[in-house]
Amino acid sequence: MFVTRRAFVGVGAAVGASYLAGRGLPRLAGAPLRSRTESAGRDARLVSAGGRLDVELVASDDWVDLAGERARLWSYNGQVPGPLLEMAPGDELRIRLVNQLEEPTNLHFHGLHVAPDGVADNIFREIAPGEVASYAFRVPEQHPAGLFWLHPHLHGSVARQVALGLAAPLIIRGGLDAVPDVSAAREHVLVLQDFELDWTGRPIDPGMAALMGGREGALVTVSGQSRPRYAIEQEGALRLRFLNASASRFYRLSLEGHAMHLIATDGGSLATPQRVDDLLVAPGERRDVLILGSRETGVYRLMNLPYNRGSAGMMGGTLGARTAFEIASVVYEGRAESQRQVPQALGEVEHLPAARARRTFVLSETMGMVRGRGMGMRFRINGREFDHLRIDDRVRLGDIEEWEYINNTDMDHPMHVHTNPFQRIGADGQPEPAWLDGIVVPARRRERIRIRFTDFVGATVQHCHILDHEDLGMMSTMQIEG
Ligand code: C2O
Ligand code: CU
Ligand code: CU
Repeated sequence: MFVTRRAFVGVGAAVGASYLAGRGLPRLAGAPLRSRTESAGRDARLVSAGGRLDVELVASDDWVDLAGERARLWSYNGQVPGPLLEMAPGDELRIRLVNQLEEPTNLHFHGLHVAPDGVADNIFREIAPGEVASYAFRVPEQHPAGLFWLHPHLHGSVARQVALGLAAPLIIRGGLDAVPDVSAAREHVLVLQDFELDWTGRPIDPGMAALMGGREGALVTVSGQSRPRYAIEQEGALRLRFLNASASRFYRLSLEGHAMHLIATDGGSLATPQRVDDLLVAPGERRDVLILGSRETGVYRLMNLPYNRGSAGMMGGTLGARTAFEIASVVYEGRAESQRQVPQALGEVEHLPAARARRTFVLSETMGMVRGRGMGMRFRINGREFDHLRIDDRVRLGDIEEWEYINNTDMDHPMHVHTNPFQRIGADGQPEPAWLDGIVVPARRRERIRIRFTDFVGATVQHCHILDHEDLGMMSTMQIEG
């Protein structure tokens, strides 16, 4: 169906390659293979072979190269963002996580439909400093293709660990990738991260006020680079796969002179491309777009447009970017052999049928003590702060439920659900045919979703993906019962 998957790493992936090469895991090929994802950067790509992907991830606090300068960040394998992992449905993933940090950490596989317990996507594990832990699971045969990601998920430390750089993209290759007009496009993964660094390249700790709204850094990077350029051929097509790996920053993206054709959301392919002039990508979310090289030769800026994500209660002031700024650009180079198009159809997307049960989640805020920082804002779901020892909701395997989020605060909360994807319910009361694992619930507004629990039982969570809010209580547990 799709191009043979071969194990290799991208050019100059010195760190990832050197310690994996010794083990021969995964197979490394030095030949200049034409990669499906043409990296605009220096990032390693680790691709499954023979149905398996074995990876070692070393989490450490060290100097890394960021946007052409040195920065003292937390990274996987010495690079920010971490290496790109690529697998296919049915493949087995094994990760050896080496914690060289001076505090505990763990791993979450954001968006993957895999077991939430054991050595799979178990966010309740705690990997101590100096510990080496294994994560292992098989991606289901029926798993949709798409862009997912790994990041730490230790309650209380998530925002800081992610904001310091710990994040790695993971592609499941299949379905959509085989659509000819999609596979013909040049593909790039754009990992959006922001950092707040001093002039020596060391991170600056945000104050309490910043945590209430969710910390944002002034330095915005795209796959570890500052304003990278992506080449497009005249008449050619470019596929940009955005991943918002920032702790709290929202991106509203627009490419000068070009429409974007949305082909996939968090959980995979749309049925048909959807033309958008600007695209909101909230924390944790992924969006996949095609762009046609239909303009005159030149350089076109990919802009981050202003977006008001509300205000942090009594603190006043608005949150989010107030002015537009360039985060990358697209430059015309050469001409395609034949004229590329936006495909008519991408695949089938099921409409989730009617729900058996309903639930409401009220999002609120309150003043309270914040560990190590004095008085500050705390966040709640249905009046309660997160407690991993409590089960907040019990759901049944096989059920479909309809959830309503009611935001009783003055800022947006991008809610994210683990383990099972969902669909947003539109104004007409029908589910929209797009699989999501995150939904922005705007300040003082409501949103509804439909979700189905399949394949896995166990304890899982949902939370706000403004990760400071999650750390400050806005997370709840859910027991999926068989
Ligand atoms: Cu990326 Cu529980 O989150
Ligand atoms: Cu997640
Ligand atoms: Cu929030």
